[in-house]
Amino acid sequence: MAAITVRVVILMDDYAGYEVRGLLGEHGLSIFLEVDGGRRKRFSMLFDVGQTGDTLLHNASLMGIDLAEISLIAFSHRHYDHTGGLVRVLKHWARRIPVIAHPDLFIPQVYIGRGRVSLMLGPPYSRREAEDAGATFIFTREALPLFPGVYFLGEIPRETEFEPVPREFVSLRDGRAERDGVVDDTAVAVVVEGRGVLVLTGCSHSGIVNIVRRAAEVAGSKVFSVIGGFHLIGAERRRIKATVRELVRMGVEEVHVGHCTGLDAEYMLKEAFKDGFGKIHSGYTIEY
Ligand SMILES: [Fe+2]
Ligand SMILES: [Fe+2]
Repeated sequence: MAAITVRVVILMDDYAGYEVRGLLGEHGLSIFLEVDGGRRKRFSMLFDVGQTGDTLLHNASLMGIDLAEISLIAFSHRHYDHTGGLVRVLKHWARRIPVIAHPDLFIPQVYIGRGRVSLMLGPPYSRREAEDAGATFIFTREALPLFPGVYFLGEIPRETEFEPVPREFVSLRDGRAERDGVVDDTAVAVVVEGRGVLVLTGCSHSGIVNIVRRAAEVAGSKVFSVIGGFHLIGAERRRIKATVRELVRMGVEEVHVGHCTGLDAEYMLKEAFKDGFGKIHSGYTIEY
Protein backbone atom coordinates (compact mmCIF):
# COMPACT_ATOMS: atom_id res chain seq x y z
CA MET A 1 0.00 0.00 0.00
CA ALA A 2 1.20 3.49 -0.77
CA ALA A 3 0.71 6.66 1.19
CA ILE A 4 -2.02 8.94 -0.17
CA THR A 5 -0.61 12.20 1.14
CA VAL A 6 2.78 12.85 2.65
CA ARG A 7 4.13 15.88 4.50
CA VAL A 8 7.81 16.27 5.28
CA VAL A 9 9.02 19.11 7.52
CA ILE A 10 12.68 19.81 8.18
CA LEU A 11 12.40 20.54 11.90
CA MET A 12 16.05 21.42 12.17
CA ASP A 13 19.03 21.82 9.83
CA ASP A 14 22.42 23.60 9.94
CA TYR A 15 20.74 26.49 8.14
CA ALA A 16 17.98 28.36 10.00
CA GLY A 17 16.30 29.63 6.84
CA TYR A 18 14.10 32.71 6.60
CA GLU A 19 10.49 31.65 5.99
CA VAL A 20 9.30 31.52 9.59
CA ARG A 21 10.59 34.19 11.95
CA GLY A 22 12.46 32.88 14.99
CA LEU A 23 13.38 29.39 13.77
CA LEU A 24 16.81 28.20 14.88
CA GLY A 25 19.55 26.30 13.09
CA GLU A 26 22.01 23.81 14.63
CA HIS A 27 24.64 21.54 13.10
CA GLY A 28 22.62 18.36 12.59
CA LEU A 29 19.33 17.20 11.17
CA SER A 30 15.82 16.29 12.26
CA ILE A 31 12.94 15.52 9.89
CA PHE A 32 9.24 15.15 10.71
CA LEU A 33 7.30 12.77 8.45
CA GLU A 34 3.51 12.58 8.37
CA VAL A 35 1.70 10.07 6.20
CA ASP A 36 -2.00 9.78 5.52
CA GLY A 37 -2.79 6.33 4.19
CA GLY A 38 -6.50 7.06 3.69
CA ARG A 39 -9.38 5.43 5.58
CA ARG A 40 -8.30 7.28 8.74
CA LYS A 41 -4.91 5.56 8.77
CA ARG A 42 -2.38 8.15 9.84
CA PHE A 43 1.22 7.82 10.84
CA SER A 44 3.91 10.25 11.88
CA MET A 45 7.49 9.85 12.98
CA LEU A 46 10.76 11.67 13.59
CA PHE A 47 13.81 10.83 11.51
CA ASP A 48 16.82 11.92 13.63
CA VAL A 49 16.68 14.36 16.54
CA GLY A 50 19.56 16.81 15.97
CA GLN A 51 22.31 17.54 18.43
CA THR A 52 20.69 19.10 21.52
CA GLY A 53 16.94 18.49 21.24
CA ASP A 54 16.28 22.10 22.31
CA THR A 55 16.41 23.46 18.77
CA LEU A 56 14.06 20.80 17.49
CA LEU A 57 11.53 21.37 20.31
CA HIS A 58 11.71 25.16 19.86
CA ASN A 59 11.17 24.95 16.08
CA ALA A 60 8.36 22.37 16.32
CA SER A 61 6.43 24.48 18.81
CA LEU A 62 6.92 27.63 16.70
CA MET A 63 5.54 25.78 13.66
CA GLY A 64 2.65 24.27 15.62
CA ILE A 65 3.75 20.67 15.03
CA ASP A 66 2.52 18.36 17.77
CA LEU A 67 5.30 15.85 18.28
CA ALA A 68 3.47 14.14 21.13
CA GLU A 69 1.45 12.30 18.43
CA ILE A 70 4.38 10.57 16.69
CA SER A 71 4.51 6.76 16.60
CA LEU A 72 8.28 6.30 16.61
CA ILE A 73 11.75 7.76 16.14
CA ALA A 74 14.21 6.31 13.60
CA PHE A 75 17.95 7.07 13.50
CA SER A 76 19.89 7.45 10.25
CA HIS A 77 23.17 6.56 12.04
CA ARG A 78 24.80 7.00 15.43
CA HIS A 79 26.52 10.40 14.96
CA TYR A 80 25.81 12.94 17.71
CA ASP A 81 24.39 15.55 15.31
CA HIS A 82 21.56 13.10 14.48
CA THR A 83 21.04 11.29 17.80
CA GLY A 84 22.19 13.78 20.47
CA GLY A 85 18.77 15.28 21.25
CA LEU A 86 17.03 12.03 22.18
CA VAL A 87 17.09 12.19 25.99
CA ARG A 88 16.10 15.87 25.95
CA VAL A 89 13.02 15.27 23.76
CA LEU A 90 11.98 12.11 25.62
CA LYS A 91 12.13 13.93 28.97
CA HIS A 92 10.04 16.72 27.45
CA TRP A 93 7.32 14.28 26.27
CA ALA A 94 7.53 12.03 29.32
CA ARG A 95 6.25 8.93 27.55
CA ARG A 96 7.67 5.68 26.12
CA ILE A 97 8.41 5.54 22.41
CA PRO A 98 10.03 2.98 20.05
CA VAL A 99 13.43 4.05 18.67
CA ILE A 100 14.51 2.18 15.53
CA ALA A 101 18.29 2.01 15.05
CA HIS A 102 21.23 -0.10 13.93
CA PRO A 103 22.64 -2.39 16.67
CA ASP A 104 25.94 -0.43 16.57
CA LEU A 105 24.22 2.67 18.01
CA PHE A 106 26.18 2.54 21.28
CA ILE A 107 29.48 1.20 19.88
CA PRO A 108 31.94 4.09 20.53
CA GLN A 109 33.40 5.69 17.41
CA VAL A 110 36.07 8.31 16.70
CA TYR A 111 37.07 10.24 13.57
CA ILE A 112 40.71 10.37 12.44
CA GLY A 113 41.27 12.19 9.18
CA ARG A 114 42.11 15.40 7.36
CA GLY A 115 44.52 16.56 10.01
CA ARG A 116 42.03 16.35 12.85
CA VAL A 117 40.72 13.90 15.41
CA SER A 118 37.17 13.93 16.80
CA LEU A 119 36.34 11.84 19.81
CA MET A 120 33.01 10.36 20.82
CA LEU A 121 31.01 10.66 17.62
CA GLY A 122 28.12 8.61 18.99
CA PRO A 123 25.19 9.58 21.22
CA PRO A 124 26.13 11.65 24.32
CA TYR A 125 24.14 9.33 26.64
CA SER A 126 24.19 5.65 27.56
CA ARG A 127 21.59 3.10 26.49
CA ARG A 128 20.41 3.00 30.11
CA GLU A 129 19.92 6.79 30.26
CA ALA A 130 17.91 6.73 27.03
CA GLU A 131 15.74 3.83 28.25
CA ASP A 132 15.15 5.53 31.59
CA ALA A 133 14.00 8.63 29.69
CA GLY A 134 11.46 6.56 27.69
CA ALA A 135 13.19 4.92 24.69
CA THR A 136 12.33 1.33 23.75
CA PHE A 137 15.06 0.37 21.29
CA ILE A 138 14.39 -1.82 18.28
CA PHE A 139 17.73 -2.68 16.71
CA THR A 140 17.92 -4.00 13.16
CA ARG A 141 20.49 -4.50 10.38
CA GLU A 142 17.73 -5.50 7.98
CA ALA A 143 15.06 -3.42 6.27
CA LEU A 144 12.00 -2.98 8.49
CA PRO A 145 8.49 -1.84 7.50
CA LEU A 146 7.36 0.96 9.87
CA PHE A 147 3.88 1.52 8.39
CA PRO A 148 2.31 0.41 5.08
CA GLY A 149 4.53 2.05 2.42
CA VAL A 150 7.17 3.32 4.91
CA TYR A 151 10.47 1.41 5.32
CA PHE A 152 13.57 1.74 7.49
CA LEU A 153 16.23 0.53 5.04
CA GLY A 154 18.76 -1.15 7.38
CA GLU A 155 22.32 -1.72 6.15
CA ILE A 156 22.98 -0.32 2.69
CA PRO A 157 25.00 -2.49 0.27
CA ARG A 158 28.07 -0.51 -0.90
CA GLU A 159 28.11 -1.11 -4.64
CA THR A 160 29.05 2.00 -6.60
CA GLU A 161 32.70 2.33 -7.63
CA PHE A 162 32.71 6.14 -7.22
CA GLU A 163 31.33 6.16 -3.64
CA PRO A 164 34.26 4.82 -1.57
CA VAL A 165 33.58 3.32 1.84
CA PRO A 166 34.70 5.96 4.41
CA ARG A 167 38.11 5.13 5.97
CA GLU A 168 38.34 7.89 8.57
CA PHE A 169 36.09 6.35 11.25
CA VAL A 170 37.34 3.93 13.92
CA SER A 171 35.05 2.00 16.26
CA LEU A 172 35.93 0.37 19.57
CA ARG A 173 34.29 -3.03 19.63
CA ASP A 174 34.94 -5.57 22.42
CA GLY A 175 38.03 -3.63 23.47
CA ARG A 176 39.51 -3.57 19.95
CA ALA A 177 39.86 -0.60 17.59
CA GLU A 178 38.67 -1.33 14.06
CA ARG A 179 37.98 0.72 10.96
CA ASP A 180 34.25 1.31 10.50
CA GLY A 181 32.82 2.34 7.13
CA VAL A 182 29.79 3.78 8.99
CA VAL A 183 28.03 0.49 8.35
CA ASP A 184 25.07 1.78 10.40
CA ASP A 185 24.31 4.64 7.98
CA THR A 186 20.81 4.18 6.52
CA ALA A 187 17.67 6.00 5.34
CA VAL A 188 13.87 5.82 5.25
CA ALA A 189 11.83 5.18 2.07
CA VAL A 190 8.19 6.23 1.61
CA VAL A 191 5.99 5.06 -1.27
CA VAL A 192 3.94 8.02 -2.52
CA GLU A 193 0.92 6.94 -4.56
CA GLY A 194 1.18 7.96 -8.21
CA ARG A 195 4.70 9.39 -7.79
CA GLY A 196 7.15 6.71 -6.67
CA VAL A 197 9.50 6.50 -3.72
CA LEU A 198 10.60 9.38 -1.51
CA VAL A 199 13.87 8.93 0.41
CA LEU A 200 14.74 10.64 3.72
CA THR A 201 18.47 10.47 4.33
CA GLY A 202 20.60 11.70 7.23
CA CYS A 203 24.28 11.99 6.25
CA SER A 204 24.51 9.45 3.38
CA HIS A 205 27.89 8.09 4.55
CA SER A 206 26.80 4.94 2.63
CA GLY A 207 26.78 6.93 -0.62
CA ILE A 208 23.57 8.55 -1.81
CA VAL A 209 23.47 6.47 -5.01
CA ASN A 210 23.81 3.25 -3.00
CA ILE A 211 20.97 4.48 -0.76
CA VAL A 212 18.68 5.35 -3.69
CA ARG A 213 19.32 1.92 -5.23
CA ARG A 214 18.51 0.17 -1.96
CA ALA A 215 15.37 2.29 -1.44
CA ALA A 216 14.05 1.35 -4.90
CA GLU A 217 14.76 -2.32 -4.19
CA VAL A 218 13.13 -2.39 -0.74
CA ALA A 219 10.13 -0.19 -1.61
CA GLY A 220 9.67 -1.85 -5.02
CA SER A 221 9.42 1.30 -7.14
CA LYS A 222 11.49 4.09 -8.71
CA VAL A 223 12.81 6.86 -6.44
CA PHE A 224 11.51 10.30 -7.53
CA SER A 225 12.61 12.50 -4.61
CA VAL A 226 15.46 12.57 -2.10
CA ILE A 227 15.58 14.77 1.01
CA GLY A 228 18.46 15.24 3.47
CA GLY A 229 22.27 15.41 3.66
CA PHE A 230 24.40 13.90 0.88
CA HIS A 231 27.78 14.17 2.67
CA LEU A 232 29.66 15.43 -0.38
CA ILE A 233 31.44 18.17 1.60
CA GLY A 234 35.04 18.06 0.43
CA ALA A 235 34.32 15.30 -2.12
CA GLU A 236 36.28 15.35 -5.40
CA ARG A 237 34.46 16.88 -8.36
CA ARG A 238 34.75 13.55 -10.19
CA ARG A 239 32.66 11.89 -7.49
CA ILE A 240 30.09 14.69 -7.36
CA LYS A 241 29.71 14.61 -11.16
CA ALA A 242 29.27 10.84 -11.19
CA THR A 243 26.71 11.09 -8.35
CA VAL A 244 24.64 13.74 -10.13
CA ARG A 245 24.77 11.81 -13.44
CA GLU A 246 23.66 8.57 -11.78
CA LEU A 247 20.79 10.21 -9.83
CA VAL A 248 19.50 11.71 -13.09
CA ARG A 249 19.92 8.39 -14.92
CA MET A 250 17.94 6.56 -12.21
CA GLY A 251 15.03 8.92 -12.79
CA VAL A 252 15.25 11.02 -9.61
CA GLU A 253 13.23 14.19 -10.29
CA GLU A 254 13.81 16.24 -7.12
CA VAL A 255 16.61 16.68 -4.60
CA HIS A 256 16.11 18.71 -1.41
CA VAL A 257 19.52 18.93 0.21
CA GLY A 258 21.41 20.57 3.05
CA HIS A 259 23.28 19.64 6.24
CA CYS A 260 26.51 17.92 5.06
CA THR A 261 25.89 18.13 1.30
CA GLY A 262 28.51 20.86 0.67
CA LEU A 263 28.49 23.95 -1.53
CA ASP A 264 30.08 22.38 -4.63
CA ALA A 265 27.59 19.51 -4.66
CA GLU A 266 24.64 21.83 -4.01
CA TYR A 267 25.70 23.99 -6.95
CA MET A 268 26.14 21.02 -9.29
CA LEU A 269 22.83 19.46 -8.19
CA LYS A 270 21.07 22.79 -8.75
CA GLU A 271 22.48 23.00 -12.28
CA ALA A 272 21.29 19.47 -13.09
CA PHE A 273 17.89 19.45 -11.35
CA LYS A 274 16.94 23.11 -11.88
CA ASP A 275 13.43 23.60 -10.38
CA GLY A 276 13.70 20.11 -8.90
CA PHE A 277 16.43 21.38 -6.57
CA GLY A 278 15.71 22.69 -3.07
CA LYS A 279 18.06 23.95 -0.36
CA ILE A 280 16.64 22.69 2.92
CA HIS A 281 16.60 24.68 6.17
CA SER A 282 14.71 24.67 9.47
CA GLY A 283 11.00 24.91 8.61
CA TYR A 284 11.40 23.72 4.99
CA THR A 285 8.21 21.82 4.11
CA ILE A 286 7.35 19.53 1.21
CA GLU A 287 3.95 17.99 0.56
CA TYR A 288 2.89 15.32 -1.93
FE1 LIG B 1 25.51 14.60 9.99
FE1 LIG C 1 27.37 11.55 10.15
